[in-house]
Amino acid sequence: MNFELKSLSPSQAAQLNTDTLLVLVPDTQTDKAASGALQELIAGATRLGDLEQGVGKLLSCYRAPGFKASRVLLVRVGDGSAALVRKALTAGLAAVKTAGVKKLGLVLSLFDASNDAVRAAVQCCADATYVYTTTKPSAKARALQQVVVGVSQAAAVRAGFDTGRALITGVEFAKEWANRPANHATPTHLAEAARKLGRLPGLKTDVLGPKQVEALGMGSFLAVAKGSAEPLRFIVLHYNGGPKGSAPVVLVGKGITFDTGGISIKPAAEMDEMKFDMGGAASVLGTFAALAELRPAINVVGLIPSCENMPDGLAVKPGDVVTSMSGQTIEILNTDAEGRLILCDALTYAARFKPHSVIDIATLTGACVIALGGVRSGLFSTRDDLAQALQQAGETAQDLCWRLPLDDEYAEGLKSNFADMGNVAGRAGGAITAAKFLQKFTAELPWAHLDIAGTAWKSGAAKGSTGRPVPLLLQYLIDQADALAAGAGKGAKARTKKAAKV
Ligand code: BES
Ligand code: MN
Ligand code: ZN
Repeated sequence: MNFELKSLSPSQAAQLNTDTLLVLVPDTQTDKAASGALQELIAGATRLGDLEQGVGKLLSCYRAPGFKASRVLLVRVGDGSAALVRKALTAGLAAVKTAGVKKLGLVLSLFDASNDAVRAAVQCCADATYVYTTTKPSAKARALQQVVVGVSQAAAVRAGFDTGRALITGVEFAKEWANRPANHATPTHLAEAARKLGRLPGLKTDVLGPKQVEALGMGSFLAVAKGSAEPLRFIVLHYNGGPKGSAPVVLVGKGITFDTGGISIKPAAEMDEMKFDMGGAASVLGTFAALAELRPAINVVGLIPSCENMPDGLAVKPGDVVTSMSGQTIEILNTDAEGRLILCDALTYAARFKPHSVIDIATLTGACVIALGGVRSGLFSTRDDLAQALQQAGETAQDLCWRLPLDDEYAEGLKSNFADMGNVAGRAGGAITAAKFLQKFTAELPWAHLDIAGTAWKSGAAKGSTGRPVPLLLQYLIDQADALAAGAGKGAKARTKKAAKV
Protein backbone atom coordinates (compact mmCIF):
# COMPACT_ATOMS: atom_id res chain seq x y z
CA MET A 1 0.00 0.00 0.00
CA ASN A 2 1.16 3.44 -0.88
CA PHE A 3 0.26 6.39 1.36
CA GLU A 4 0.45 10.06 0.54
CA LEU A 5 -0.18 12.99 2.87
CA LYS A 6 -1.53 16.21 1.36
CA SER A 7 -2.78 19.57 2.52
CA LEU A 8 -6.31 19.70 1.11
CA SER A 9 -9.03 22.27 1.51
CA PRO A 10 -12.60 20.89 1.38
CA SER A 11 -12.98 22.14 -2.20
CA GLN A 12 -9.69 20.56 -3.25
CA ALA A 13 -10.86 17.31 -1.63
CA ALA A 14 -13.92 17.26 -3.90
CA GLN A 15 -11.55 17.44 -6.88
CA LEU A 16 -9.46 14.46 -5.72
CA ASN A 17 -9.34 11.81 -8.41
CA THR A 18 -9.82 8.53 -6.47
CA ASP A 19 -12.25 5.58 -6.72
CA THR A 20 -13.79 6.52 -3.42
CA LEU A 21 -13.64 9.58 -1.22
CA LEU A 22 -14.14 8.86 2.47
CA VAL A 23 -14.87 12.07 4.35
CA LEU A 24 -14.77 12.21 8.13
CA VAL A 25 -17.44 14.67 9.21
CA PRO A 26 -17.19 16.24 12.68
CA ASP A 27 -20.28 16.93 14.76
CA THR A 28 -19.68 20.63 14.70
CA GLN A 29 -18.66 22.28 11.49
CA THR A 30 -15.72 24.63 12.10
CA ASP A 31 -16.37 26.90 9.12
CA LYS A 32 -20.12 27.29 8.72
CA ALA A 33 -19.85 29.92 6.01
CA ALA A 34 -17.72 27.73 3.73
CA SER A 35 -19.23 26.78 0.41
CA GLY A 36 -18.34 24.21 -2.24
CA ALA A 37 -19.52 20.77 -3.28
CA LEU A 38 -18.40 18.97 -0.12
CA GLN A 39 -19.76 21.51 2.34
CA GLU A 40 -23.07 21.66 0.44
CA LEU A 41 -23.39 17.89 0.36
CA ILE A 42 -22.82 17.68 4.13
CA ALA A 43 -25.15 20.59 4.91
CA GLY A 44 -27.89 19.14 2.71
CA ALA A 45 -27.57 15.62 4.06
CA THR A 46 -27.56 16.88 7.65
CA ARG A 47 -30.58 19.11 7.07
CA LEU A 48 -32.59 16.25 5.59
CA GLY A 49 -31.55 13.89 8.38
CA ASP A 50 -29.77 11.51 5.98
CA LEU A 51 -26.47 11.90 7.81
CA GLU A 52 -27.28 11.29 11.45
CA GLN A 53 -25.25 12.37 14.44
CA GLY A 54 -23.31 9.52 16.07
CA VAL A 55 -19.78 8.26 15.49
CA GLY A 56 -19.62 5.80 12.59
CA LYS A 57 -22.99 6.82 11.08
CA LEU A 58 -22.52 6.99 7.35
CA LEU A 59 -24.04 8.12 4.11
CA SER A 60 -22.93 6.65 0.83
CA CYS A 61 -23.38 8.84 -2.25
CA TYR A 62 -22.95 7.82 -5.88
CA ARG A 63 -21.88 10.34 -8.53
CA ALA A 64 -22.49 13.31 -6.29
CA PRO A 65 -22.40 16.57 -8.28
CA GLY A 66 -19.12 18.46 -8.09
CA PHE A 67 -16.97 15.45 -7.11
CA LYS A 68 -14.35 13.66 -9.19
CA ALA A 69 -14.70 10.42 -7.20
CA SER A 70 -17.69 8.32 -8.22
CA ARG A 71 -18.31 7.19 -4.64
CA VAL A 72 -18.38 9.63 -1.73
CA LEU A 73 -18.76 8.23 1.74
CA LEU A 74 -19.57 10.64 4.57
CA VAL A 75 -18.78 9.23 8.01
CA ARG A 76 -19.47 10.92 11.34
CA VAL A 77 -16.38 11.25 13.52
CA GLY A 78 -17.66 13.09 16.63
CA ASP A 79 -14.97 15.45 17.92
CA GLY A 80 -12.28 13.91 15.69
CA SER A 81 -10.14 12.46 18.50
CA ALA A 82 -7.85 9.53 17.62
CA ALA A 83 -10.18 7.02 19.33
CA LEU A 84 -13.20 8.29 17.40
CA VAL A 85 -11.32 8.45 14.09
CA ARG A 86 -10.62 4.79 14.63
CA LYS A 87 -14.22 3.99 15.44
CA ALA A 88 -15.55 5.98 12.47
CA LEU A 89 -13.07 4.49 10.02
CA THR A 90 -13.68 0.93 11.16
CA ALA A 91 -17.30 1.48 10.16
CA GLY A 92 -16.48 3.38 6.96
CA LEU A 93 -13.74 1.07 5.72
CA ALA A 94 -15.87 -2.06 6.05
CA ALA A 95 -17.86 -0.66 3.11
CA VAL A 96 -14.67 0.15 1.20
CA LYS A 97 -13.34 -3.36 1.66
CA THR A 98 -16.38 -5.04 0.20
CA ALA A 99 -16.37 -2.61 -2.72
CA GLY A 100 -12.81 -3.60 -3.67
CA VAL A 101 -11.60 0.01 -3.78
CA LYS A 102 -8.07 0.43 -5.20
CA LYS A 103 -7.47 4.12 -4.69
CA LEU A 104 -8.94 5.83 -1.66
CA GLY A 105 -9.08 9.46 -0.69
CA LEU A 106 -9.35 9.98 3.05
CA VAL A 107 -10.43 13.46 4.02
CA LEU A 108 -9.57 14.70 7.50
CA SER A 109 -9.61 18.37 6.56
CA LEU A 110 -12.94 19.26 8.15
CA PHE A 111 -11.51 19.27 11.66
CA ASP A 112 -8.23 19.92 13.40
CA ALA A 113 -6.74 16.42 13.05
CA SER A 114 -4.00 15.70 15.60
CA ASN A 115 -0.89 13.60 14.95
CA ASP A 116 -2.51 10.74 16.88
CA ALA A 117 -5.69 11.01 14.79
CA VAL A 118 -3.74 10.87 11.52
CA ARG A 119 -1.71 7.95 12.81
CA ALA A 120 -4.93 6.14 13.77
CA ALA A 121 -6.41 6.81 10.32
CA VAL A 122 -3.40 5.38 8.49
CA GLN A 123 -3.37 2.35 10.76
CA CYS A 124 -7.10 1.73 10.25
CA CYS A 125 -6.68 1.59 6.46
CA ALA A 126 -4.24 -1.28 6.89
CA ASP A 127 -6.18 -3.08 9.61
CA ALA A 128 -9.45 -3.01 7.69
CA THR A 129 -7.95 -4.38 4.48
CA TYR A 130 -5.38 -6.89 5.77
CA VAL A 131 -5.58 -10.34 4.16
CA TYR A 132 -3.46 -13.37 5.06
CA THR A 133 -2.47 -15.19 1.88
CA THR A 134 0.77 -17.13 2.54
CA THR A 135 -0.77 -20.59 2.90
CA LYS A 136 -4.10 -19.75 1.25
CA PRO A 137 -3.57 -19.26 -2.48
CA SER A 138 -7.31 -18.92 -3.04
CA ALA A 139 -7.53 -15.84 -0.79
CA LYS A 140 -8.31 -12.59 -2.56
CA ALA A 141 -5.36 -10.29 -1.96
CA ARG A 142 -5.82 -6.76 -0.61
CA ALA A 143 -7.45 -4.58 -3.27
CA LEU A 144 -6.54 -1.20 -1.75
CA GLN A 145 -3.29 0.03 -3.32
CA GLN A 146 -3.18 3.74 -2.77
CA VAL A 147 -4.44 6.06 -0.03
CA VAL A 148 -4.30 9.84 -0.21
CA VAL A 149 -4.76 11.35 3.24
CA GLY A 150 -6.00 14.92 3.07
CA VAL A 151 -5.61 17.21 6.07
CA SER A 152 -5.77 20.98 6.50
CA GLN A 153 -2.05 21.31 7.42
CA ALA A 154 0.14 18.43 6.25
CA ALA A 155 3.34 19.68 7.87
CA ALA A 156 1.75 19.71 11.32
CA VAL A 157 0.86 16.00 11.23
CA ARG A 158 3.78 14.57 9.24
CA ALA A 159 5.16 12.85 12.37
CA GLY A 160 1.87 11.05 13.08
CA PHE A 161 1.63 10.05 9.43
CA ASP A 162 5.18 8.63 9.40
CA THR A 163 4.59 6.77 12.67
CA GLY A 164 1.40 5.33 11.20
CA ARG A 165 3.19 4.00 8.14
CA ALA A 166 6.00 2.47 10.20
CA LEU A 167 3.37 0.91 12.44
CA ILE A 168 1.69 -0.74 9.50
CA THR A 169 5.00 -2.35 8.54
CA GLY A 170 5.48 -3.56 12.12
CA VAL A 171 1.95 -4.75 12.74
CA GLU A 172 1.74 -6.58 9.41
CA PHE A 173 5.11 -8.22 10.00
CA ALA A 174 3.85 -9.47 13.37
CA LYS A 175 0.51 -10.61 11.92
CA GLU A 176 2.18 -12.49 9.10
CA TRP A 177 4.44 -14.53 11.38
CA ALA A 178 1.84 -15.14 14.06
CA ASN A 179 -0.72 -16.25 11.47
CA ARG A 180 1.58 -18.75 9.78
CA PRO A 181 0.85 -22.30 10.89
CA ALA A 182 3.47 -23.92 13.11
CA ASN A 183 4.87 -26.01 10.25
CA HIS A 184 5.52 -22.80 8.34
CA ALA A 185 6.83 -20.90 11.36
CA THR A 186 9.34 -23.08 13.19
CA PRO A 187 12.05 -21.59 15.45
CA THR A 188 14.40 -21.93 12.45
CA HIS A 189 11.98 -20.00 10.22
CA LEU A 190 11.63 -17.24 12.84
CA ALA A 191 15.41 -16.99 13.12
CA GLU A 192 15.64 -16.68 9.33
CA ALA A 193 13.09 -13.87 9.37
CA ALA A 194 15.08 -12.14 12.11
CA ARG A 195 18.31 -12.57 10.13
CA LYS A 196 16.68 -10.94 7.13
CA LEU A 197 15.57 -8.01 9.30
CA GLY A 198 19.16 -7.78 10.53
CA ARG A 199 20.28 -6.79 7.04
CA LEU A 200 18.34 -3.51 7.23
CA PRO A 201 20.43 -0.43 8.05
CA GLY A 202 20.90 0.07 11.79
CA LEU A 203 19.83 -3.50 12.61
CA LYS A 204 21.89 -6.54 13.50
CA THR A 205 20.81 -10.10 14.30
CA ASP A 206 22.62 -12.94 16.05
CA VAL A 207 21.12 -16.42 16.24
CA LEU A 208 22.18 -18.97 18.85
CA GLY A 209 21.50 -22.70 18.54
CA PRO A 210 21.19 -25.52 21.13
CA LYS A 211 24.95 -25.83 21.73
CA GLN A 212 25.43 -22.15 22.51
CA VAL A 213 22.31 -22.04 24.66
CA GLU A 214 23.64 -25.03 26.60
CA ALA A 215 27.02 -23.31 27.01
CA LEU A 216 25.18 -20.30 28.49
CA GLY A 217 23.63 -22.62 31.07
CA MET A 218 20.02 -21.99 30.04
CA GLY A 219 18.83 -25.28 31.58
CA SER A 220 15.23 -24.12 31.87
CA PHE A 221 14.87 -23.10 28.19
CA LEU A 222 16.64 -26.34 27.12
CA ALA A 223 14.20 -28.43 29.19
CA VAL A 224 11.20 -27.12 27.23
CA ALA A 225 12.90 -27.60 23.84
CA LYS A 226 13.93 -31.21 24.64
CA GLY A 227 10.61 -32.75 23.59
CA SER A 228 10.74 -31.47 20.03
CA ALA A 229 12.53 -32.60 16.90
CA GLU A 230 12.77 -28.93 15.86
CA PRO A 231 15.96 -27.36 17.19
CA LEU A 232 15.57 -24.32 19.46
CA ARG A 233 16.76 -20.87 18.47
CA PHE A 234 17.73 -17.95 20.68
CA ILE A 235 17.42 -14.79 18.57
CA VAL A 236 19.24 -11.59 19.55
CA LEU A 237 18.36 -8.40 17.65
CA HIS A 238 20.03 -5.02 17.95
CA TYR A 239 18.74 -1.67 16.76
CA ASN A 240 21.24 1.12 17.32
CA GLY A 241 19.58 4.45 16.61
CA GLY A 242 20.59 6.16 19.83
CA PRO A 243 23.84 7.60 21.11
CA LYS A 244 26.65 5.08 21.48
CA GLY A 245 26.70 3.71 25.02
CA SER A 246 23.16 4.83 25.89
CA ALA A 247 21.43 2.02 27.82
CA PRO A 248 19.10 -0.01 25.56
CA VAL A 249 15.50 -0.97 26.10
CA VAL A 250 15.40 -4.78 25.99
CA LEU A 251 12.29 -6.46 24.56
CA VAL A 252 11.91 -10.17 25.33
CA GLY A 253 9.31 -12.10 23.30
CA LYS A 254 7.96 -15.57 24.07
CA GLY A 255 8.56 -17.63 20.94
CA ILE A 256 6.79 -20.95 21.48
CA THR A 257 5.96 -21.81 17.87
CA PHE A 258 3.53 -24.48 19.04
CA ASP A 259 2.33 -25.27 22.57
CA THR A 260 0.84 -28.75 22.95
CA GLY A 261 1.32 -28.48 26.70
CA GLY A 262 4.04 -31.14 26.56
CA ILE A 263 3.53 -34.18 28.82
CA SER A 264 0.88 -32.12 30.70
CA ILE A 265 -0.89 -32.19 27.34
CA LYS A 266 -3.70 -29.78 26.47
CA PRO A 267 -7.20 -30.91 25.44
CA ALA A 268 -7.77 -31.17 21.68
CA ALA A 269 -10.36 -28.38 21.36
CA GLU A 270 -8.85 -25.22 19.94
CA MET A 271 -5.33 -26.54 20.27
CA ASP A 272 -4.63 -25.18 16.77
CA GLU A 273 -4.66 -21.70 18.31
CA MET A 274 -1.44 -22.57 20.12
CA LYS A 275 0.38 -21.73 16.89
CA PHE A 276 -0.15 -18.15 18.11
CA ASP A 277 1.97 -18.87 21.21
CA MET A 278 4.82 -17.01 19.53
CA GLY A 279 2.78 -13.79 19.47
CA GLY A 280 5.24 -12.13 21.85
CA ALA A 281 8.13 -13.03 19.55
CA ALA A 282 6.16 -11.81 16.52
CA SER A 283 5.53 -8.48 18.26
CA VAL A 284 9.25 -8.05 18.94
CA LEU A 285 10.11 -8.81 15.29
CA GLY A 286 7.36 -6.44 14.14
CA THR A 287 8.61 -3.69 16.43
CA PHE A 288 12.11 -4.03 14.95
CA ALA A 289 10.68 -3.86 11.43
CA ALA A 290 8.93 -0.62 12.42
CA LEU A 291 12.11 0.75 14.06
CA ALA A 292 14.04 0.15 10.83
CA GLU A 293 11.56 2.33 9.00
CA LEU A 294 10.98 5.10 11.56
CA ARG A 295 14.55 5.19 12.91
CA PRO A 296 13.98 6.83 16.30
CA ALA A 297 17.09 7.85 18.24
CA ILE A 298 17.21 5.04 20.79
CA ASN A 299 19.02 1.73 21.31
CA VAL A 300 16.91 -1.42 21.50
CA VAL A 301 17.79 -5.09 22.01
CA GLY A 302 15.33 -7.87 21.14
CA LEU A 303 15.61 -11.32 22.72
CA ILE A 304 13.52 -14.23 21.46
CA PRO A 305 13.80 -17.67 23.02
CA SER A 306 12.03 -19.91 20.52
CA CYS A 307 11.13 -23.62 20.54
CA GLU A 308 8.19 -26.00 20.37
CA ASN A 309 6.55 -27.49 23.48
CA MET A 310 5.93 -31.15 22.56
CA PRO A 311 5.33 -34.47 24.35
CA ASP A 312 7.98 -37.06 23.52
CA GLY A 313 10.14 -39.83 24.96
CA LEU A 314 12.79 -37.21 25.59
CA ALA A 315 10.40 -34.51 26.84
CA VAL A 316 10.74 -32.98 30.28
CA LYS A 317 8.39 -34.66 32.83
CA PRO A 318 6.30 -33.25 35.66
CA GLY A 319 8.50 -33.27 38.76
CA ASP A 320 11.76 -32.90 36.86
CA VAL A 321 14.10 -30.33 38.39
CA VAL A 322 16.20 -28.12 36.12
CA THR A 323 18.81 -25.44 36.77
CA SER A 324 18.16 -22.06 35.17
CA MET A 325 20.88 -19.73 33.88
CA SER A 326 20.48 -17.70 37.09
CA GLY A 327 21.54 -20.77 39.11
CA GLN A 328 18.11 -21.09 40.72
CA THR A 329 16.55 -24.55 40.40
CA ILE A 330 12.98 -25.11 39.19
CA GLU A 331 10.66 -28.05 39.79
CA ILE A 332 8.61 -28.36 36.60
CA LEU A 333 5.27 -29.40 38.06
CA ASN A 334 3.32 -28.66 34.90
CA THR A 335 5.01 -28.81 31.51
CA ASP A 336 2.25 -26.59 30.08
CA ALA A 337 3.62 -23.64 32.08
CA GLU A 338 6.48 -23.53 29.57
CA GLY A 339 6.45 -19.84 28.62
CA ARG A 340 7.91 -18.75 31.96
CA LEU A 341 10.56 -21.48 31.65
CA ILE A 342 11.98 -20.09 28.42
CA LEU A 343 11.51 -16.45 29.44
CA CYS A 344 13.32 -16.76 32.76
CA ASP A 345 16.61 -17.62 31.06
CA ALA A 346 16.16 -14.85 28.49
CA LEU A 347 15.53 -12.38 31.35
CA THR A 348 18.75 -13.48 33.05
CA TYR A 349 20.56 -12.98 29.73
CA ALA A 350 19.03 -9.47 29.41
CA ALA A 351 21.02 -8.18 32.41
CA ARG A 352 24.28 -8.21 30.40
CA PHE A 353 23.05 -5.25 28.35
CA LYS A 354 22.79 -3.06 31.49
CA PRO A 355 19.38 -2.08 30.17
CA HIS A 356 17.39 1.10 30.64
CA SER A 357 14.38 -1.20 30.98
CA VAL A 358 13.41 -4.80 30.19
CA ILE A 359 9.94 -5.61 28.90
CA ASP A 360 8.85 -9.15 28.23
CA ILE A 361 5.85 -9.85 26.02
CA ALA A 362 4.16 -13.24 26.25
CA THR A 363 0.98 -15.16 25.55
CA LEU A 364 1.55 -16.44 29.04
CA THR A 365 -1.65 -17.47 30.81
CA GLY A 366 -5.22 -18.49 30.13
CA ALA A 367 -5.92 -16.78 33.46
CA CYS A 368 -5.13 -13.39 31.91
CA VAL A 369 -7.74 -14.05 29.23
CA ILE A 370 -10.27 -14.66 32.01
CA ALA A 371 -9.19 -11.53 33.91
CA LEU A 372 -9.04 -8.96 31.09
CA GLY A 373 -10.51 -10.59 27.97
CA GLY A 374 -9.40 -9.31 24.60
CA VAL A 375 -9.53 -5.57 25.29
CA ARG A 376 -6.51 -4.89 27.47
CA SER A 377 -3.23 -6.77 27.85
CA GLY A 378 -2.07 -7.54 31.39
CA LEU A 379 0.71 -5.25 32.63
CA PHE A 380 2.98 -6.06 35.57
CA SER A 381 5.93 -4.06 36.80
CA THR A 382 8.12 -3.63 39.81
CA ARG A 383 8.60 0.05 38.85
CA ASP A 384 5.79 2.58 38.98
CA ASP A 385 7.43 4.92 36.43
CA LEU A 386 7.88 2.11 33.90
CA ALA A 387 4.32 0.86 34.44
CA GLN A 388 3.01 4.39 33.93
CA ALA A 389 5.05 4.93 30.78
CA LEU A 390 3.75 1.68 29.27
CA GLN A 391 0.15 2.33 30.27
CA GLN A 392 0.41 5.84 28.74
CA ALA A 393 1.99 4.51 25.54
CA GLY A 394 -0.91 2.08 25.27
CA GLU A 395 -3.45 4.90 25.64
CA THR A 396 -1.68 7.07 23.04
CA ALA A 397 -1.44 4.21 20.55
CA GLN A 398 -4.86 2.83 21.51
CA ASP A 399 -3.31 -0.53 22.25
CA LEU A 400 -4.48 -0.77 25.81
CA CYS A 401 -3.11 -2.55 28.87
CA TRP A 402 -4.02 -2.68 32.55
CA ARG A 403 -1.75 -3.03 35.55
CA LEU A 404 -2.16 -5.99 37.86
CA PRO A 405 -0.50 -6.37 41.27
CA LEU A 406 2.71 -8.15 42.31
CA ASP A 407 2.27 -8.51 46.10
CA ASP A 408 4.74 -11.00 47.53
CA GLU A 409 1.91 -13.07 49.02
CA TYR A 410 1.11 -14.20 45.47
CA ALA A 411 4.46 -16.03 45.33
CA GLU A 412 3.58 -18.36 48.26
CA GLY A 413 2.28 -21.09 45.98
CA LEU A 414 5.51 -21.23 43.98
CA LYS A 415 7.34 -22.88 46.91
CA SER A 416 8.73 -26.36 46.29
CA ASN A 417 10.18 -29.08 48.54
CA PHE A 418 12.55 -30.18 45.80
CA ALA A 419 13.80 -26.99 44.14
CA ASP A 420 14.17 -23.25 44.72
CA MET A 421 10.72 -22.86 43.22
CA GLY A 422 7.98 -24.69 41.36
CA ASN A 423 6.81 -23.43 37.99
CA VAL A 424 3.10 -23.25 38.90
CA ALA A 425 1.07 -22.12 41.90
CA GLY A 426 -2.47 -23.39 41.44
CA ARG A 427 -5.40 -21.86 39.61
CA ALA A 428 -6.09 -18.77 41.71
CA GLY A 429 -4.56 -15.54 40.36
CA GLY A 430 -2.80 -17.47 37.60
CA ALA A 431 -1.69 -14.44 35.58
CA ILE A 432 -0.17 -12.89 38.70
CA THR A 433 1.61 -16.02 39.97
CA ALA A 434 3.15 -16.44 36.50
CA ALA A 435 4.44 -12.85 36.74
CA LYS A 436 5.77 -13.57 40.26
CA PHE A 437 7.73 -16.48 38.82
CA LEU A 438 9.31 -14.18 36.20
CA GLN A 439 10.06 -11.56 38.84
CA LYS A 440 12.43 -14.02 40.54
CA PHE A 441 14.71 -13.65 37.50
CA THR A 442 14.69 -9.88 37.16
CA ALA A 443 16.51 -9.03 40.41
CA GLU A 444 17.37 -5.33 40.30
CA LEU A 445 16.32 -4.78 36.67
CA PRO A 446 13.69 -2.16 35.80
CA TRP A 447 11.35 -4.82 34.49
CA ALA A 448 7.81 -5.03 33.12
CA HIS A 449 5.80 -7.95 31.80
CA LEU A 450 2.95 -7.82 29.28
CA ASP A 451 0.64 -10.84 29.25
CA ILE A 452 -0.93 -10.74 25.79
CA ALA A 453 -2.74 -14.10 25.95
CA GLY A 454 -6.09 -12.36 25.41
CA THR A 455 -5.02 -9.66 22.95
CA ALA A 456 -2.51 -11.24 20.53
CA TRP A 457 -5.10 -13.00 18.41
CA LYS A 458 -8.82 -13.34 17.78
CA SER A 459 -10.73 -16.62 17.82
CA GLY A 460 -13.87 -17.64 15.93
CA ALA A 461 -14.79 -16.50 12.43
CA ALA A 462 -12.26 -13.64 12.54
CA LYS A 463 -9.51 -15.98 13.75
CA GLY A 464 -6.15 -14.32 13.26
CA SER A 465 -3.34 -12.33 14.77
CA THR A 466 -4.00 -8.74 15.86
CA GLY A 467 -0.37 -7.62 15.66
CA ARG A 468 -0.68 -6.35 19.23
CA PRO A 469 1.17 -4.99 21.15
CA VAL A 470 3.41 -3.58 18.39
CA PRO A 471 1.64 -0.17 18.57
CA LEU A 472 2.16 0.05 22.35
CA LEU A 473 5.82 -1.00 22.14
CA LEU A 474 6.70 1.36 19.30
CA GLN A 475 4.98 4.25 21.11
CA TYR A 476 6.91 3.48 24.29
CA LEU A 477 10.18 3.52 22.33
CA ILE A 478 9.27 6.80 20.59
CA ASP A 479 8.42 8.33 23.99
CA GLN A 480 11.75 7.14 25.42
CA ALA A 481 13.62 8.54 22.41
CA ASP A 482 11.87 11.89 22.94
CA ALA A 483 12.79 11.84 26.63
CA LEU A 484 16.41 11.02 25.78
CA ALA A 485 16.61 13.84 23.26
CA ALA A 486 15.03 16.29 25.70
CA GLY A 487 17.44 15.15 28.42
CA ALA A 488 20.39 15.70 26.09
CA GLY A 489 19.19 19.28 25.65
CA LYS A 490 18.60 18.81 21.97
CA GLY A 491 14.91 19.61 22.13
CA ALA A 492 12.15 17.06 22.26
CA LYS A 493 11.55 16.99 18.56
CA ALA A 494 15.00 15.75 17.61
CA ARG A 495 13.73 12.23 17.83
CA THR A 496 14.28 10.85 14.35
CA LYS A 497 17.74 10.38 12.96
CA LYS A 498 16.57 10.64 9.43
CA ALA A 499 13.22 11.27 7.78
CA ALA A 500 11.33 8.01 7.33
CA LYS A 501 11.14 6.81 3.77
CA VAL A 502 8.97 4.04 2.44
N1 BES B 1 0.30 -20.55 25.98
C1 BES B 1 -0.42 -20.87 27.17
C2 BES B 1 -1.32 -19.73 27.64
C3 BES B 1 -2.59 -19.51 26.87
C4 BES B 1 -3.66 -20.36 27.02
C5 BES B 1 -2.73 -18.42 26.07
C6 BES B 1 -4.83 -20.13 26.34
C7 BES B 1 -3.91 -18.17 25.42
C8 BES B 1 -4.96 -19.03 25.53
C9 BES B 1 0.56 -21.18 28.30
O1 BES B 1 1.74 -21.78 27.92
C10 BES B 1 -0.14 -22.12 29.23
O2 BES B 1 -0.43 -23.20 28.82
N2 BES B 1 -0.40 -21.67 30.45
C11 BES B 1 -1.10 -22.45 31.39
C12 BES B 1 -0.43 -22.26 32.74
C13 BES B 1 -0.93 -23.22 33.80
C14 BES B 1 -0.48 -24.61 33.46
C15 BES B 1 -0.40 -22.77 35.11
C16 BES B 1 -2.55 -21.98 31.44
O3 BES B 1 -2.79 -20.78 31.35
O4 BES B 1 -3.42 -22.83 31.50
MN1 MN C 1 1.54 -23.91 27.82
ZN1 ZN D 1 2.38 -21.43 26.02
